[in-house]
Amino acid sequence: CGIVGILGSKPVAPQIVDALKRLEYRGYDSAGVATLERGELERRRAPGKLKFLEEKLELEPLSGFAGIGHTRWATHGAPNERNAHPHATERVAVVHNGIIENFRELKEELLDFGVNFQSDTDTEVVAQMVNRELDAGKTPELAVAAVLARLRGAFALVFLFKGEDDLMIGARRGSPLAVGYGDGEMFFGSDAIALAPFTDQISYLNDGDCAIVTRRGVKVRDCDGSGVAVSRPVQRSLANAAMIDKGNYRHFMAKEIAEQPEVVGHTLAHHLDMANMRARVPDGIDFATLDRLAISACGTAFYAGLVARYWFEKFARMPVDIDIASEFRYREPPLKEGGLAIMISQSGETADTLATLRHCREQGMQIASVCNVPTSTIARDSDAVLPTLAGPEIGVASTKAFTCQLATLAALAVAAGRARKVLTAEDEFRLVNALIEVPRLMTETLKLEPQIERLAKTFAHSRDALYLGRGTSYPIALEGALKLKEISYIHAEGYAAGELKHGPIALIDEDVPVVVVAPFDQLFEKTVSNMQEVQARGGKVVLITDAEGAIVAGETFETLIVPTSYAFVSPLIYAIPMQLLAYHTAVFMGTDVDQPRNLAKSVTVE
Ligand code: G6P
Repeated sequence: CGIVGILGSKPVAPQIVDALKRLEYRGYDSAGVATLERGELERRRAPGKLKFLEEKLELEPLSGFAGIGHTRWATHGAPNERNAHPHATERVAVVHNGIIENFRELKEELLDFGVNFQSDTDTEVVAQMVNRELDAGKTPELAVAAVLARLRGAFALVFLFKGEDDLMIGARRGSPLAVGYGDGEMFFGSDAIALAPFTDQISYLNDGDCAIVTRRGVKVRDCDGSGVAVSRPVQRSLANAAMIDKGNYRHFMAKEIAEQPEVVGHTLAHHLDMANMRARVPDGIDFATLDRLAISACGTAFYAGLVARYWFEKFARMPVDIDIASEFRYREPPLKEGGLAIMISQSGETADTLATLRHCREQGMQIASVCNVPTSTIARDSDAVLPTLAGPEIGVASTKAFTCQLATLAALAVAAGRARKVLTAEDEFRLVNALIEVPRLMTETLKLEPQIERLAKTFAHSRDALYLGRGTSYPIALEGALKLKEISYIHAEGYAAGELKHGPIALIDEDVPVVVVAPFDQLFEKTVSNMQEVQARGGKVVLITDAEGAIVAGETFETLIVPTSYAFVSPLIYAIPMQLLAYHTAVFMGTDVDQPRNLAKSVTVE
C-alpha cells in the first residue's frame, strides 16, 4: 500500500492524488483521501484504480489544507469502498500500510465496549482505539502512543485529527515511511518518489519511530523504546518526478525493458573495475574466509538468486543455500556465525525478505543486500549494500531490476572466485570481458521485438504454457513463466528441461506452447533432446537459442535467434525475449500490463 500526508498552504486533495499516482504501483485495489474541512474530517474513497477516486473528487471536491491519502493492496477485507482507507471515526482518520497481527483480539475488546465497526479491516481497529483514548481526554500524541504500545505486526500509519489543522502523526514499525520538508508545508510519504514534485528534503523514519508533524517541522520519538526524542537526518532525495515518466512508451514495462542495455551498463560499471578488468569486492566482505553462502529473496529476485547459485558454486566453489524468503526460516537451516547471507530485493521493503534478513542476523551472520532502493529498509539494515542501478522500476512485473540483479551477482561471483583463488587473473579477465559485452548484446536482442510481437498473437490464445531450461537457463525458464502469468494471466510453468519426462510431459498437446531456453552451450544437446520429446507429442516448440543452436536444432514452431554470447552471461541475454513475449502477449490480450490484477510492486506483509 502507499501512504501520503500533507499539511499544506492550499487545498491538498489534488496534491494527494498526484502523490498517490506515483504510489499506485504499491497497490491499486482502492484509494481514498481524508481532509479537514473547517475542522471536521471528511473522506472520499473509491474501489479500484485511482481514476475512480479522481472522478469522485470531481463530483464532490475537498478543499481542506491538511489531508492524508492511501492506495491499497487488500489484506483484510474485500477491495470495496467500505474497506478503502482512510479509516475514520468522528475524531481521527488513519491510513495504514502493513498488517496489525493482533487485530482480532483488539477488535473483540472494542466490540465488548460497544464500538460499531464500519469496515472489515484491521486498520479501523486502530482508528477506534485512538478514538477511545481521545474520548478519555488524552492529547493526540499520547493517544497514538498508547495505541502503538498495544499493536503487534509490521506497519506504517499516518493519523489526522478533528480540529487539528496543524498536526499529523506518523509511526513506522516494519513498513517504510518518510517525512518531507517543504516551505511552510510538511509531508509524509511511503517513499521519496511520492513526494518528488513537492520536496527533495526527506528524512526516513526508523522502525519504532513516531513522528509528530506540524507546518513548522517534525519531532521524532522512539515510541517502541524509551520514548526519547531522536533525530533523523534530512537527506536530499535523488528521486525526481521525471524519472517516473513513461516517455514515448505505451507502458512503463516497455520502457523498462528497453532501458536494460543502459541500466545494466551502469550497474556493471559500478561493480567492475573496467580499467583493470577486475570485479570489485565490496568493503567488509572477505570471501576467502567464508565456506558457504546463504541467499534469499522473493519472486523475480529469487530467480536472480537461483542463477547466482550456479555462478558462485562454479566460479568460487562456494556451496550456496538458497530458498524463497517466505520459507527460508521454516527450514531452520544451520547457519554459521560470521557467515554471509545475501538478500536480493528490488524494493528493499519486501516483508518476507526483511524477516529472513533479521533471522540471519540473529544467527550472527553478516548481511549483504542486492537492492535497487538504497534508502530502503533492507539496504539500511545490511552490512554491505550492492546497489542495482536500474532506476525506479514502476511496472509491477520486474524486468530491468532483474537483469541488474543478475549483473551485480555475476560481478560478485567473479570477485568471490578471485578472492578464493579459484579463478586465475586470465579467467577473471575473460569473465569480466564477457560481462562488458552484455549491454551491446542486449541491444541486439531487443531487435527481436517485431518477431516476438507476431508470436505473441499465438500465445494469447493459449490456456497454458511451459518453459524449459537447463543449468542457468532453468531459472530463466522459471522467470519467463512467472512473467507470462503475472501480466497475461495465462497459466505458465517453468521446469528443468530434464524434469519434463517425469510428469509435465503429460500436459503436452498441440495447444500448449513450450518455450525452450537453450543457448548453444555444453547442455544444449540434452535440452534439444527434451525439446524433441515435446515435438514428438505434437507440442508447439518456441526455441530461444543462438545462430549455432538454431542450425543444430532443426525445425521448430518458431525459433528466436539471440546473439551468441559466453555461456556465463546468457541469463542476462535470454531474460529479454522472456520479458518481450510476456509483454506483447499481455498487450495483445488487453490486460493492464503495468498494474496486473491482484499484484503489488512492493509487498510489505508476510
Ligand atoms: C512482488 C512483486 C514481484 C517481485 C517480488 C519481490 O511480489 O510483484 O515482481 O519480484 O515482490 O520484490 P522485491 O522488491 O523484494 O524484489
